[in-house]
Amino acid sequence: MKCKEFLENSANLTERALEKYLPESKEEYKIVADAMRYSLIGGGKRIRAALCLEFCRVCGGNTEDALPFACAVEMIHAYSLIHDDLPCMDNDDMRRGKPSCHKAFTEDMALLAGDALQPLAFETIFTAKNVKPENIIRAANVLAKAAGYNGMVGGQVLDLDAEGKEISYQTLLNIETLKTGALISSACEMGCIVADADDEKITAAKSYASKIGRVFQMIDDVLDVTADEEELGKPVGSDEENLKTTYVSMFGIEKTCQMAEELTNEAINDLAVFGDEAETLKQLAIFLLHRKK
Ligand code: IPE
Ligand code: IPE
Ligand code: MG
Ligand code: MG
Ligand code: MG
Repeated sequence: MKCKEFLENSANLTERALEKYLPESKEEYKIVADAMRYSLIGGGKRIRAALCLEFCRVCGGNTEDALPFACAVEMIHAYSLIHDDLPCMDNDDMRRGKPSCHKAFTEDMALLAGDALQPLAFETIFTAKNVKPENIIRAANVLAKAAGYNGMVGGQVLDLDAEGKEISYQTLLNIETLKTGALISSACEMGCIVADADDEKITAAKSYASKIGRVFQMIDDVLDVTADEEELGKPVGSDEENLKTTYVSMFGIEKTCQMAEELTNEAINDLAVFGDEAETLKQLAIFLLHRKK
C-alpha cells in the first residue's frame, strides 16, 4: 500500500475509534469533555497511531486489535500538546489549525482536559479484546513509562530548563529522546506487543523508533523556522521566541536535514528483520523526513 493511502486509512480508523472512547458529555461538568473532544478529534497526523497499527500488522497481528493502544498513545499525545501550548509552557495560541485548547476554552479547563485524557488512555487500553492479558499489562506499562517522569514529562522539564541556556549536544539528544522519542517508541513497541512479537522484533522496532523519533523532532524544529504557518497549523517562530535550543539553533537547517537523512537510512536498515512486510514502515520513515507539516 502507498504510504499516503496507508496514513489516510489508519488516521480514519483511529479517528472513528477515538470518537467511541470519548465520554458522552451530558453531565454538568461536560465542559471538560468538550475540551477533550476539541483537542483529540479532527486534526493531527496520527503518526503514532499509524506506527502502532503497522508494527502490529508486520509482526503478524490483527490491526484492529491494536486500535485501543493506537488511540491511547494519541490521547497521551493530545494531552501533551494541550499542556505544551499553555502560557506557562510554550505559550502557543494555535494548534492543528485552530485555537489552542486554552484559547478555545480557558486555561483551567485545558489543564483539566489534559489531566482527564491521561487516565482515559489507560481505560481505553483495558478495553482491548483478543489480546493476551499479560500483553495488555505489558503494553500499558510501556505507555505509562513513556508518558511519565522518565519519559515525555522528564523531557518537557529538560526542554523548559534549557530555555535561554547553552546546552551540550548530549543534553539536546536527551531532551528529544524523552519529550518526543519516548511516546513514538511506545507506539511502535505496543504494536509489537499486541502481536505477541519476539524480543528480536521488539528490539528492532525500538531501534527504528528511536531514529525516526529523532528525525521527527529535527524536522519539527526545521518546520518551526521554514514552514507556512497555515499549512503547519501551529505558530512558526515559537522556538526562537522561547529561546529554545533546538537542532536548528545548534546546527542550522542544512546540517539538521542532512543528519535527519542519515538517521532515516539507519532507521530503514533496522527494519531488515521484518522482511518485505516492512515496505510501508520504510516509506513512512521517508515521509517523515520530507513532511511539510
Ligand atoms: C508535535 O507532534 C509535537 C512533537 C512531538 C514534535 P505532531 O507533529 O505529531 O503533532 P500532530 O499530532 O500531527 O498535531
Ligand atoms: C513538544 O515539542 C513535545 C511534546 C511533548 C508536546 P514542541 O514544543 O517542539 O512541539 P510543538 O512544536 O509545540 O508541536
Ligand atoms: Mg514544547
Ligand atoms: Mg511547543
Ligand atoms: Mg516544535
